[in-house]
Amino acid sequence: MEFQLQTSRRLYEEHAATLELLNRVERVFTGRAGVYPPPEGDSAWPAFARGLLGAIDVEVARHFEFEERDVFPRLEQAGDGDLAGLLIEEHATIRAVAQPLAELLRNALAGGAPDWQAMKVLALEFSERLGSHAQKEDGALLPVLDSLLDEETDRALFGAYAAG
Ligand SMILES: [Fe+2]
Ligand SMILES: [Fe+2]
Repeated sequence: MEFQLQTSRRLYEEHAATLELLNRVERVFTGRAGVYPPPEGDSAWPAFARGLLGAIDVEVARHFEFEERDVFPRLEQAGDGDLAGLLIEEHATIRAVAQPLAELLRNALAGGAPDWQAMKVLALEFSERLGSHAQKEDGALLPVLDSLLDEETDRALFGAYAAG
């Protein structure tokens, strides 16, 4: 997909990275990337779990906050309040799954006895919801955003977001 503005391109790239990670999440938790639950001492599991936790803590949280603070209000002002409302609702349901999932992952990484079944259910639900959300934004939000911002606003928003 081709976007003119840095902000829409950046969000698109982050969605693509997220979709790639979710693909891996689905493979791991359905046992298609090795045995699930991972055997005791499995060397790939901690790195994967840390990566997923990092994505929840940083990417999802940061990306969502940016959209809620700087993107959705502009969408509302432009008369697309219905879409903004729907996307905000989806953020809430994704966070509601991400939070307990992150807790289980943290606990497992700290050496606790993981509830593998609960983790799998949450991870697959997280993946399904976030995947469809990111695709919806690619199709419905980013093209609108791309034509909504002037270049100066785009530069300012992107600059602030990229600087963290
Ligand atoms: Fe979003
Ligand atoms: Fe997004």
